[in-house]
Amino acid sequence: MTVWSHGYVADSPYTFSYQPAQAPGHLAMVCAMAGVVWAPQPRMAMLDIGCGRGLTVNVLAAANPGWHVLGLDYNPAHIAEAQELADAAGSANAGFCEADLAEMTDAEMDRLPEFDIVTIHGVWTWVADAVRAGIVRLLARRLKPGGLCYIGYNVQPAFGADAALQRLFMHLAGQARGSSRARVEAALEQVRALAATNPAQLPSTPMLRYLLDKEQRLDTAYLAHEFLTSHWRPAFHEDVCAALAPAKLEFVGSATLHENMPDLQLDAAQRATYEGMPPGPAREFIKDLCLPRAFRRDVFIRGLRRTDHVEALDRLVIAACRALPEDSPKLSVPVGEAELAPAMWQPIAAALREGPQSLHRLRHLPEERRPNPAELLAVLQGTGLVVPVLREPQVTEETQRFNRALFAATLASGDREGQFALASSAIAGGLPCAWLEMALAVQPDILDAPPETLAARLLPHLDEEGRAEAATLIGRIQAERIPVWRGLGLLPG
Ligand SMILES: C[S@@+](CC[C@H](N)C(=O)[O-])C[C@H]1O[C@@H](n2cnc3c(N)ncnc32)[C@H](O)[C@@H]1O
Repeated sequence: MTVWSHGYVADSPYTFSYQPAQAPGHLAMVCAMAGVVWAPQPRMAMLDIGCGRGLTVNVLAAANPGWHVLGLDYNPAHIAEAQELADAAGSANAGFCEADLAEMTDAEMDRLPEFDIVTIHGVWTWVADAVRAGIVRLLARRLKPGGLCYIGYNVQPAFGADAALQRLFMHLAGQARGSSRARVEAALEQVRALAATNPAQLPSTPMLRYLLDKEQRLDTAYLAHEFLTSHWRPAFHEDVCAALAPAKLEFVGSATLHENMPDLQLDAAQRATYEGMPPGPAREFIKDLCLPRAFRRDVFIRGLRRTDHVEALDRLVIAACRALPEDSPKLSVPVGEAELAPAMWQPIAAALREGPQSLHRLRHLPEERRPNPAELLAVLQGTGLVVPVLREPQVTEETQRFNRALFAATLASGDREGQFALASSAIAGGLPCAWLEMALAVQPDILDAPPETLAARLLPHLDEEGRAEAATLIGRIQAERIPVWRGLGLLPG
């Protein structure tokens, strides 16, 4: 362990990823569903605690020149890389601060601005008590009244079932040499060998099955940060609520929208127990007991004020972010599939193909029976068909510069596997994309070339078979994605 790491992994960088749930447009959907007053403002300050390599901060800054977006992390390699991308993109409103949450004094915290939003993704359940205390102190001192907090963490009891697996990784990696990534890779071989003997107390969890699946391409940076920390402890939701209470935070809802709808999550018997509990942490515990989720994305607010949730939902605007299917989309949920009646879907899909629409308009289009607005939103967003829209679609200098800089950074690093995103002013955030999609989106002058030509140009290292597959993929992107990108203002019209 590096001396300053407090038992967290600091010798290998984390994965490069954009988290759409941290975008204020997405968080506004959670508040609307819960009937809680909150909306993104034209001018805001945002902080991402434990920002890693800073892709989320950089995308949000490029998409929103009126916001100041700050990333804080104690790993100087993360901060340097994140700042380099902000500089290359010319994003003056993105800032990065190297600071250790366990060591930051009150005076140092008070030199930061006051924030409208603080996000904390993948930090809480991997760090020492002193780091958690620093997070709460920072929230208490710098989150504005009315401010929003997003926190993503490993939850009990689901992830608790991997406690033995995590210990095993720690012990095996402790015997290996090299960087955390090299040690986790060495440990993985031994985990696989031992798991093949079906040890009585190594539960067959989704995580273990994922690790044993030879077809999966495992990300060793993720695995090192997931398992090789001395303070790995999934948390019960109610304990997170209690820990955040000194910062006056109250729970709003889950950033995974359909998780807020008990009838899509629980069967009748489970719902009877759920409804027998008072609203709040006890009900959330019943969900954590019954749902197959190991990671929670929770939204809290400092100063909760109620509003009519239907009116709040009606004000949201959404747009298609991929070609819409002819058939009504189906969202897999724990109790089966949530689906809009086909007669409801046809007029809604037709309107979304024309451009961004308010939820109010969409839900009034079907003539016979109106969809429930929360369910409509949960199904469309959960199936990845729509994104929230905060502004008129238009190509901006800032997003184009950023998208080109991000692509150039991936060319320099050779990184093709991250969870990338194209910055968009309309979305006020990023549109998640694969590397190949980004490669096309940032080169509008070559977009209409034959797929085979593009495959040869963008992926010259592939063999004939690989290139043919890539050409098929590019043809699909040209047909299905490019028109949507134009509609969202990601490409000139
Ligand atoms: C699992 S990573 C998550 C990164 C990022 N939020 C993401 O989702 O890509 C956890 C991050 O917390 C940072 N971190 C851990 N301990 C910290 C501390 N004491 N102070 C500040 N940052 C810390 C790590 O450097 C790392 O970047």
